[in-house]
Amino acid sequence: MDTRKLRHNMTLEEKAQLCSGLDFWRTKSIGRLSIESYMMADGPHGLRQQPKEVDHLGISESNPATCFPTASALACSWDRSLMEQLGEALAREARSTELAIVLGPGINMKRSPLGGRNFEYLSEDPLLAGELASAYVIGMQSLHIGTSLKHFAANNQEHRRMSVDALIEPRTLHEIYLAAFEHVVKKAHPWTVMCSYNKLNGTYTSENTWLLTDILRHRWGFEGVVMSDWGAINERVNALSAGLDLEMPGGNTRDQLIIEAVKEGTLTEAVLDQAVDRLLALYEKTRQGIEPIKVSYEEHHALARTLATESIVLLKNEANVLPLSPQNSIAVIGDFAQHPRFQGGGSSHVNPTQVESFINALEKSGQAYTFARGFKAQEDTPDEELIREAVKLAGKHPVTLVFLGLPDHYESEGYDRDHLHIPQNQLLLMEALARTKSALVVVLANGAPIDMPWLKQANAVITGHLGGQAIGGALHAILFGHETPSGKLAETYPINLSDTPAYDEFPSLDQPNNTDVVNYGENLLIGYRHYDTHHVAPLFPFGYGLSYTQFRYDLLRMSHTTLSKHETLIVEVDITNIGQRFGKEIVQVYLSDHSGEINIPEKQLRGFDKVALAPGETTTVEIKLTRRDFAYFHPDLNDWRVPDGKFVIRIGASSRDIRLEKTLEVEGDTLVVPIHRNTLIGDLAKVPSLLDVVQRSLAKAIKARPKLALMVGGETGDDMLEAMGKYLPLRALVSFSYGAFTEDDLTSLLASLNNASRH
Ligand code: BGC
Repeated sequence: MDTRKLRHNMTLEEKAQLCSGLDFWRTKSIGRLSIESYMMADGPHGLRQQPKEVDHLGISESNPATCFPTASALACSWDRSLMEQLGEALAREARSTELAIVLGPGINMKRSPLGGRNFEYLSEDPLLAGELASAYVIGMQSLHIGTSLKHFAANNQEHRRMSVDALIEPRTLHEIYLAAFEHVVKKAHPWTVMCSYNKLNGTYTSENTWLLTDILRHRWGFEGVVMSDWGAINERVNALSAGLDLEMPGGNTRDQLIIEAVKEGTLTEAVLDQAVDRLLALYEKTRQGIEPIKVSYEEHHALARTLATESIVLLKNEANVLPLSPQNSIAVIGDFAQHPRFQGGGSSHVNPTQVESFINALEKSGQAYTFARGFKAQEDTPDEELIREAVKLAGKHPVTLVFLGLPDHYESEGYDRDHLHIPQNQLLLMEALARTKSALVVVLANGAPIDMPWLKQANAVITGHLGGQAIGGALHAILFGHETPSGKLAETYPINLSDTPAYDEFPSLDQPNNTDVVNYGENLLIGYRHYDTHHVAPLFPFGYGLSYTQFRYDLLRMSHTTLSKHETLIVEVDITNIGQRFGKEIVQVYLSDHSGEINIPEKQLRGFDKVALAPGETTTVEIKLTRRDFAYFHPDLNDWRVPDGKFVIRIGASSRDIRLEKTLEVEGDTLVVPIHRNTLIGDLAKVPSLLDVVQRSLAKAIKARPKLALMVGGETGDDMLEAMGKYLPLRALVSFSYGAFTEDDLTSLLASLNNASRH
């Protein structure tokens, strides 16, 4: 299809029509041009294709589809290849039901564990989120089903999500909140990107030219379509001008606004043409995926089980109470064992093809068990009778499995949590069970971190997260040792809410002083970057997870001890399974910048790999660090910059369990920061040749006003004078020279400085 030729044939009205959907889920057809309509659906971890009543909140029924584990679970697998398989499986289901685009993956950073939609997002770390989401996109698009990377950008809370303005300083924005998007756009080329609901630094993302055009398209090279989140467009014409191509849902009258704007000359037709070209190119891609593919829902259920198994994290295992040895009978307590909570609420809500509870899996295995409900999962108030019954049961068994977790209404799209607790009825149950002699194995269902005041009373704890429709079988395999746990946390579990990085600035309740402005005052320090830099002890750190076997880390090797500008660093380390069982280990590479050039988080994840090893087996893990891995975003340069100096490579089994480390020297980028009238003299003084330029240009003025010399003296030996001089901008030389140094002198000084800094 020659899209340009096609566009030349289109009337203004047809072009405008193409820029919004037909209805809630479909695009428009244009019969005259043989353009057909296509359909999309949520996303991200299962299809929500609604045949009748439509909504963006998961209220009305959708067609049955495999409900895979949610993103918060999947990320704990740290497994790129499984993510790719997930993408392919979703694409197969999409093709079998004539969908063209799946609305996912969601890769917003988890700024606070309170975020209502955290279960739908991958991680608090942009590299981990970026790598896993890339694999998902590559998998899905390999079968010609499009993805929609969402929500671009800074949709980190649900509270007032359609009006809130996220205030984020440039460095934090580039290094944390945009980084995962950049990673996926460059590596996996998603067909579409979905803008978020919120404003970013004063402008709705749907009409933010800087975000949608300057950054996404010009800087990162995105060539696909930007669509709106459902109802995210504020002013239609502004959005189109900013780079937003497709308005969803459709079916409204705003195409007319585009037509009028072109006729009145407030919008050039060339802008509309660009959007149309991109939409036609997308349409062409969707045509390659229209042949239906037959799906085996049993195979997809098995894949959902594998994904859940690989994502489960073993958090505690005192005296190796797990894996369970075959028992005469086992006590199982907790509503969730029978009615698992395996997904979250809102637009990602899937109508599962089947649900496998833990009790179902026990039944299937033939293991004898006795069950007590213990509490009603969707209620908060304790039921004394259920607790008494549970205690009686536990008292008769050496080991009791206790299924606890967050009820449905605690975690959903549309609102955030305001605490980290599980309901009171479960807490009281745990207290009562702790008084029995039974060893307690707690099995959690949670889409985001919870606090655990009962942790000491539990002999073992595992989390199945929101593990999808096959979670029961996955938990069974891990608890009975048919599989060895290998998941590691993709986000930090705090001890208390007050330990979390955005504690002071994360509004989740409508309080009188809450406005539509949220200031990201913790800047770069989100997740483990905060806990490690501020030395705050977490309950469980980022990257943490136990196994039934152990691993030894040996022989860290680096390809370079000094790294010049055009070299990449290869890091190698040997991992040996020194336990008795087959197992998998997730090896993490963190980087610490000791150059001293800039404040930087204590450590940052720069690579990872997951390896499978038989007992006694050794393998070498190889991880490559590119130049960008050593860089930070320099706001004045408006670009990435590598500092000159020392870096430490740290190999960890978690962010808090560093096994090996080595230092290296890195050759930094030449500092060509534009120097302007507000550049501080102290910053220039760090580069002797530049200080020299300043001093020479002031020579005449100093003769007339000798005190000026103190301002540009560099080290004078007088602390107070030095400190004062250091923070003076160059323009102050004019103010304090009483006419001896003029604005013209300043202009020529700036020219000489900029010239000198480039050479
Ligand atoms: C959500 C999106 C979703 C869309 C369509 C919105 O409310 O934020 O993630 O894709 O609805 O259901």
